[in-house]
Amino acid sequence: MNILLIGGGGREHALAWSLRKNPAVGTIWALPGNAGMEEIATCVPIAAKDLDAIVCFAQSQPVDFAVVAPDDPLALGLVDRLHGIGIPCFGPEAKAARIESSKAFAKNLMSRYKIPTAAYRTFDSYEQAVAYLKTQRYPIVVKADGLALGKGVVIAMDERQAVEAVTTMMVDKVFGTSGGTVVIEEFLTGPEVSVLAFTDGKHIVPMISSMDHKRALDGDVGPNTGGMGTIAPNPWYTEAIASQCMEQIFIPTIRAMEQEGCPFKGCLYFGLMLTVEGPKVIEYNCRFGDPEAQVILPLLQSDLLTTMLAVENGTLEHCDVRFSPDSACCVVIASGGYPVSYEMEKQISFDCSADVLYFHAGTRRTDRGVVTAGGRVLSVVAVRPTLEQAVEAAYRGVDTVRFEHAAFRSDIGRSALEQLS
Ligand code: AMP
Ligand code: GLY
Repeated sequence: MNILLIGGGGREHALAWSLRKNPAVGTIWALPGNAGMEEIATCVPIAAKDLDAIVCFAQSQPVDFAVVAPDDPLALGLVDRLHGIGIPCFGPEAKAARIESSKAFAKNLMSRYKIPTAAYRTFDSYEQAVAYLKTQRYPIVVKADGLALGKGVVIAMDERQAVEAVTTMMVDKVFGTSGGTVVIEEFLTGPEVSVLAFTDGKHIVPMISSMDHKRALDGDVGPNTGGMGTIAPNPWYTEAIASQCMEQIFIPTIRAMEQEGCPFKGCLYFGLMLTVEGPKVIEYNCRFGDPEAQVILPLLQSDLLTTMLAVENGTLEHCDVRFSPDSACCVVIASGGYPVSYEMEKQISFDCSADVLYFHAGTRRTDRGVVTAGGRVLSVVAVRPTLEQAVEAAYRGVDTVRFEHAAFRSDIGRSALEQLS
């Protein structure tokens, strides 16, 4: 079976690595892929957002199945286009991908189907948003409606900061059309959990829980990033909470999408906050998280491709999805200055320690060797019987990596370990 895999980050490297375990997998074309993926896939320099070029490439090759991993091509309708030329895919069609690409769509869905989430209002008018902010209590959360690389969320401590955020999104348009509508919502507190689930539109199978570390700096300070590290499983996510989420959030969400005429097929990501009132949805993503995939996939014991095919064929109910009882830790090594501004083309050296996984993200092969080519550069992942061992092993792997201005958090997993002790 030949696979077209769209994307070129750490998540896609982890997906390719996991798909490769199945001996029935022949060629994996990664578009565009990265330097690390070259060892297990054929990388083709076509950008994940260049839908015309992707469709043209897919028509020219014997592609049996496509996996569309990033949010942009999903929101732009790549799965619809590939289905249009007869290629089965893992990933939602554009109208189902709105669950991530429009926060207003997601919030309205939750409100209509009584799925617990933060109280909110949406605004298309700058003046009305500013008038509303005068009447609110703080902190408050301001979100750009559309995709913004995980950076379109501002926690405003007072009215001045909230107005500034709304102005940046609606007037200065830093996120382009993504900020034309804003969602202003209640500030919630509690531990955060990421639960990714396979769903074929009717059945849902949650994967092992995980915890992202979104802020750039140790101690959860600094700007929001795409994610600086993850651990799995998440110690706050008990079996009792998992049952509650299944009943109040996961099943109601897939039923809601079905009733809205856009059944969701693929990986649905629930970003949850465990508040004193119970678990609430902070966000949905229509895809595997990055770097959540880097800890979840190494813990997956059953075959990934079989599950992906069952999702597309609507037979997930009969599929065996199993996870290891071990723990995993992923530390992201980024270019210094990420997510604000950073230099690239720095030469990377590392001795691959045997029992740690190095998933590449922003890397490129040149005649000088592998160089940095993006904000997040490498994900170093360790799987061990306990979380403590996994964290320690991941950081030993990090120690072997060298490039100029490499930046990483030194506290991935620390709060989870405190919770366990
Ligand atoms: P999002 O991109 O929606 O996941 O938001 C990024 C981060 O902002 C989340 O992981 C939370 O830490 C924080 N956040 C988002 N919405 C809220 C909220 N309503 N209350 C508190 N924190 C939030
Ligand atoms: N790590 C968060 C995300 O993939 O959106």
